[in-house]
Amino acid sequence: MTGKDQGKKQDTSRRGFLKATAIAGAAAAAAPAILRGEEVKRAFKVALIGCGGRGSDALINNHHQAAKNLNKKLGWNLEIQVVATGDFVKGKAEGVGKRYGLGADKCFGGADCYKKVIEAGPEIVLMAQPPVFRPLHFEACIAAGKHVFFEKPSAVDPVGVRRVIKAGEAAKAKKLVVVAGTQRRHSKGYNERWRDIKDGALGRVMGGRVAWNMGWIFSNKDINATKPEQLVGSGAWQLWSEMSGDHICEQHVHNLDIANWYLDAHPLSAAGFGYRIARKAGNMYDFFSGDLEYPKGVHIHSMCRQIGGCWDWVGEEFTYEKNKPNGFKNETPDPYEEPGYEGGDYVAEHAHLLWTLVKEKELNEAQNVAWATAVAIMIRESAYSGQRISWADMYDKLNPKDPKKWFDLQLSPTAEDFEKGDVKMLKDGDIRAPGKA
Ligand SMILES: NC(=O)c1ccc[n+]([C@@H]2O[C@H](COP(=O)([O-])OP(=O)(O)OC[C@H]3O[C@@H](n4cnc5c(N)ncnc54)[C@H](O)[C@@H]3O)[C@@H](O)[C@H]2O)c1
Repeated sequence: MTGKDQGKKQDTSRRGFLKATAIAGAAAAAAPAILRGEEVKRAFKVALIGCGGRGSDALINNHHQAAKNLNKKLGWNLEIQVVATGDFVKGKAEGVGKRYGLGADKCFGGADCYKKVIEAGPEIVLMAQPPVFRPLHFEACIAAGKHVFFEKPSAVDPVGVRRVIKAGEAAKAKKLVVVAGTQRRHSKGYNERWRDIKDGALGRVMGGRVAWNMGWIFSNKDINATKPEQLVGSGAWQLWSEMSGDHICEQHVHNLDIANWYLDAHPLSAAGFGYRIARKAGNMYDFFSGDLEYPKGVHIHSMCRQIGGCWDWVGEEFTYEKNKPNGFKNETPDPYEEPGYEGGDYVAEHAHLLWTLVKEKELNEAQNVAWATAVAIMIRESAYSGQRISWADMYDKLNPKDPKKWFDLQLSPTAEDFEKGDVKMLKDGDIRAPGKA
């Protein structure tokens, strides 16, 4: 979805409001939910795949809180019913399930736990498993007609990015709601800036810099993995490029998403640099820096680093053609004015998902998060290989003259390998590095 589409689809004008209410009223007779005018009573069956830190927080604190916030603010009566949980480690699924009175038969373990979670009949699936699994699990949810909240990044390689885009298009055709954990899109401040850009208050975005520079966040002890669970277990999967996409995908994806959003485009090419100075465990780099060339000659500098004792900065800054005039009023409505932004971005993204479902509006962030992930992968591969990479080679078509075959790049082991139990172990410190010695 482009920024332009977002403005169109989130019609919160009075006419749009009345229309949504009328549709809701008409649907009330057929749907199990009771929707009369603005009186809303509805129970959502929800499931979680990936019961680690983020997944449990998303379900326990954010999703439930979002329903409470909407109930308080709009006088609705939404109820969240947790029907299943799934995790590679069954005990973790049971730990979260227990909070909602789920028996062990509704808490699934193993690499195929996502299939059993889907079969348990949720209407909404929340996902916070390691990124390598996301394209496969997302496809399965969309094929089964589930609304989805999935964490970022959406994949670890170009093949995965395209799978998410394709499944996202299928979701659109089925009118399923898809929200991604790139939570800045659900922040009031970021939406205000987007509306200023869209309505011309600032003119063109001429250039900028985006960054996620921070200190060490993972243990540096070798993993010496001999079993699949050591590659995907908590605290370990982030360190493997094949599981997480490297920290550029894992964290910097948030900032890259803002560049795509505000420029209403994806970059045409990326030239990346990076290396691993002190990290020993896993195989990801310590830092990346990249030049992104967007249409109309706009360049964005991307930086991300996980090294202690350095300049830390997480954010996005752009140079605009002009200053916002005093008293400027936006024509584009705030897409989320009615549900609001209470509780911060982590809660708001779930409130916007539930509000969109009740209002029978459209919200599909699959392409947004796939594009942001795609940019992170371009910079990463450019840094690993020392080559400049074009979007056309990596995502649009297989260029027969492209000896690197970026389009076909798929990291291994894949999600399917985990399911088959055919997982090639990765070695600490076995990194790809640019150039020739
Ligand atoms: N939006 C944000 O600000 C934010 C913050 C933190 C994490 N995240 C994202 O959430 C995701 C999870 O991060 P986390 O910190 O919770 O990690 P975590 O390691 O705490 O949790 C991941 C869980 O997934 C489980 N898992 C592994 N393979 C699985 C599979 N095949 N099927 C089901 N479950 C599987 C693991 O056992 C673990 O419990 C990451 O993609 C991360 O980027 C986003």
